[in-house]
Formats: sequence, structure tokens, C-alpha cells
Amino acid sequence: MAERGYADIVLMDIIEGLPQGKALDIAESAPILNFDTHIIGTNSYQETANSDVVIITSGTGRKPGMTRDELLLTNMKIITEVTHNVVNHSPNGIIIMVTNPVDAMTHLAIHTSQFPRNRVFGLSGVLDSTRFSSFIATELNVSVKDVSACVLGQHGRNMVVIPRLSTVSGTPITKLLPQETINRLVARTIGGGEEIVGLLKTGSAFYTPSAAIAQMVDAVILDKKEILPCATYLQGEYGIKDTVISVPVKLGKSGIEQIIELELTPEEKQALATSAKAVQELVKTVKLG
Ligand code: LAC
Repeated sequence: MAERGYADIVLMDIIEGLPQGKALDIAESAPILNFDTHIIGTNSYQETANSDVVIITSGTGRKPGMTRDELLLTNMKIITEVTHNVVNHSPNGIIIMVTNPVDAMTHLAIHTSQFPRNRVFGLSGVLDSTRFSSFIATELNVSVKDVSACVLGQHGRNMVVIPRLSTVSGTPITKLLPQETINRLVARTIGGGEEIVGLLKTGSAFYTPSAAIAQMVDAVILDKKEILPCATYLQGEYGIKDTVISVPVKLGKSGIEQIIELELTPEEKQALATSAKAVQELVKTVKLG
């Protein structure tokens, strides 16, 4: 984000010295990377006041063998408190949720903030679809630029990967790859986060989530009207109500400016409904209301 040069950045964490150290380290790279962004680290919400966009990554991440859902109870306490603080200091901001399980945490942040749904959404589909795109590009030995991937639903085991709507320069991959190869790439996409956690052992993915968030922030700050899949609170779209799952949305300066309803086959619709159910079960545990 600092390299983009279009916004002041405040890194905020409860650990003393950590955000200050990170911010200083990033700021010192400015003469080489050629940006004039003002970036500071702090332990106080005061310095984040009146942010246009607030990216929430607080909470604990996964250890090998854990699902995102197992983080629910720990992270819900943290996210409730963080969201209250964000609302108090940046009442007009747009919240981008990153903390897992992201669909439930986005729902929690909407509930806690009382912000309209266009101003609270989560990182999921951009991350999941870039993973699928990268696997498709490698498999077919084509440029990633030519690949467009469609991944919807829960950021988790019930992710809905749609090969029929995933294309290479307009041709669906269902015409380019045998079914068993597609199945393998789909499974790898669904387990994409776990694959990285399994390799790193002490942390989860970093580069791709951060690139995905930066793309979402670009769309908002630069008012790009870009269509990106985000964890979005649905109120009847796709036949799903009162549930956050990833669907394509148009992102611009107001946040979510339109929810795009793709035409899905009955099977795909069913998969999305199952995905929504899984998120609803999690949210029930959080007992919103
Ligand atoms: C992942 C984490 C961020 O998918 O959920 O890598």
C-alpha cells in the first residue's frame, strides 16, 4: 500500500514496538522504492482517526492441521472490540475484514459497527480466485493475464469453485483441461490456505493475501468500479439472506456499489446454498443479536 503513494498509512497493533518497527522499516525503503507515503506505527486508535479504509487483520491465525473455523471463538472477542474502536475513531470508514473465519467475522463486524453493508466486506474471493488462476496458468502454460477464475462462497471447506465460468481468453477451462485435472486444481484451490500453513508451520499466507487486499483498496480509493469477489452480506441475492459469503461485487469509492448476480446452474446454486449454510452454522455459535 505504501508503494501506491495515494494514502497515508497507519499501522496499529497492541504489541508495543511492533507496528512502530514495521512502519519505520517500510518508511526507510521509500528512497529506493520511490514513494512519498507518510507511514507510521502506533498502539493507539487515536492516530487512526478518520481513516477512509480500515483493514482489520487482528486475531490469531491457524497452526498446521487447524481449520479457519476453529479460530472463531478467540477471534470473535478480538474483532468485536476492534470493530467498536474502529467505529468510534473512523465513523465514516470502509472496513475490509481479513481475520478468519472471514465470512463470520465480516458478519460480526457489520453487526457490531451497524455500518451499512456496502462499507463492510471481507477478503476472500480475490485471494481464492487468484490461487485458482495461478494454478490454471501454470497447468496450461499461459500468461496469468489471460486467465479469469470464478470462485465464490465460503472462504473455507465449502468454497464454490466454478470451472464453467473460469476462462482463458474467453474459453472456459472445461474445454481446455480434462475433468480430473480440473478436479485436482479445484481441490488445491479449496485447500490453498492450508497448503501454505502446512509448509510454513508457524504462519499463514502473506504475499497473496496482501496483494489481494491492495487490489481491493485500489478499487475503493481510486474509485475503479472494479468487479471483484468479496465476502458480502447478502439480503436475498442468489436466494440467500442474512449471510456473508463471497460473490462478485463492484467496488468503488462507496465500497460495494453493486452486487453482481451471476447466472448459475441449479448445481452451482445448490453448492452456494450449502456454502451459505456452513457460514450460518458458524454465525449461530457467535450468537449475534
Ligand atoms: C488463506 C488465509 C488467509 O487462505 O485464510 O491463506
